[in-house]
Amino acid sequence: MERHKIAALIHSETPVDTVMIKGWVRTRRDAKSFSFIEINDGSCLGNIQVIADATLPEYDQVRKLTTGSAVHVSGALVASQGGGQRWEVQASAITIISLAPESYPLQKKRHSDEYLRSMAHLRPRTNKYGAAFRIRSELSYAVHQFFRERGFRYIHTPIITGSDCEGAGELFRITTLDLMNVPIRDRAVDYEKDFFATEANLTVSGQLSVEMFALSLGDVYTFGPTFRAENSNTRRHASEFWMIEPEMAFCDLAGNMDLGEDFIKAAVSFIMDNCQEDLNLFARFVDKTLMATLENITTSEFERLPYREAVAILERAKKKFEYPVSFGSDLQTEHERYLTEKHFKKPVIVYDYPKTIKPFYMRMNDDNETVAAMDVLVPSIGELIGGSQREERLEVLEERMDEMGLEKEPYWWYLESRRYGSVEHSGFGLGFERLLMLITGIRNIRDVIPFPRTPGSIDF
Ligand code: 4AD
Ligand code: MG
Repeated sequence: MERHKIAALIHSETPVDTVMIKGWVRTRRDAKSFSFIEINDGSCLGNIQVIADATLPEYDQVRKLTTGSAVHVSGALVASQGGGQRWEVQASAITIISLAPESYPLQKKRHSDEYLRSMAHLRPRTNKYGAAFRIRSELSYAVHQFFRERGFRYIHTPIITGSDCEGAGELFRITTLDLMNVPIRDRAVDYEKDFFATEANLTVSGQLSVEMFALSLGDVYTFGPTFRAENSNTRRHASEFWMIEPEMAFCDLAGNMDLGEDFIKAAVSFIMDNCQEDLNLFARFVDKTLMATLENITTSEFERLPYREAVAILERAKKKFEYPVSFGSDLQTEHERYLTEKHFKKPVIVYDYPKTIKPFYMRMNDDNETVAAMDVLVPSIGELIGGSQREERLEVLEERMDEMGLEKEPYWWYLESRRYGSVEHSGFGLGFERLLMLITGIRNIRDVIPFPRTPGSIDF
């Protein structure tokens, strides 16, 4: 007989004569002639209560069950006598799969996020992290559903690349060279002797690759891990994170903003509709304002304003910022949060940024000073999306690369796409973990990734 998932049993419409469950013991309480065992199998937030009568032949063993032990229970799903749950399992047989020692580190009390980070291998067994990672799974599905319904094709872009898409130099190098005996030529590392016969690194973005597919298949997206060696230890930066990157041919910046806004709204709605029970945990215990924030996101029209106006608002603000702003400065989290939380009180799309603070591939505006960039900012997170219309004019693109001192040779194929049937096109990147933080109210990116990687930390 196949095992029943607790998620299905607790929503059963009728009693079930024979059920079989396998899971982990959350608690055991003993009465005079029977024991209550709360079992969780990870399929949902709820546990199922098992009643083990003293008449069971293995009852001696049952009385030894500890929190964290794995068990196999056969029995009947019956209406619960006690309050608090609709159904319970009246056990006819209980097998201990493995008994956890009393030292099991996740006891009933609530543990801090910091403590649980040091237990990343066990934390998915807690209510909060179980819920977070079920939501993460559902959200990945929602991403594919959203794009598929709109006719976008899913492209697998490479993880190992030779180029630096963002030009920020935050690359993790890949090499098989012997670090104790690095080959040198002309007083530099001789990468011709390396595995790929040239420099190689982990990708910071799939954009350059996915653009080639937009210029072939039309509407495409990539969704995969990206890597950044930025040494910033903040609550919203990870060294390995997942990015969703749609790219659309024959699409300008306004169309790009529409897609970003639609996507965020659809993703939030999907989780509100499909993960109510898990989401409720976050609304009750993690962030009391969560539901209001999510309602606000799904119902309000995102504010759209040029960078120049955003800066003017920030300059006029009564608030004292740690980093002063003026035209040409990058917006910091404190500015992004001021715009979304204090000024507009809803998500904001800032566009037309100064060219000096944006990468080479963004389309130059007629003012020759700003580029067709857009960032989507949301309450409590700040930047959730970074995107742009792409420079499709070969001469302008080359001029821009010269201006920024970029070597053109490694990008020869990218430039060639502007030679053969170049068209207007746009896209963006959305940080998947930041979206999860927004949806769950979890404040630290380390707590929405199964095994987080951050500067100085690669345990597990
Ligand atoms: O703004 P970014 O750097 O944009 C790009 O990489 C473009 N090439 C994307 C594109 O147009 N296809 O990064 C996009 C998003 C950010 O808005 C942020 O949500 C997330 O990726 N992100 C990070 N998330 C977690 N940890 C980090 N270190 C992140 N860096 C960026
Ligand atoms: Mg950005």
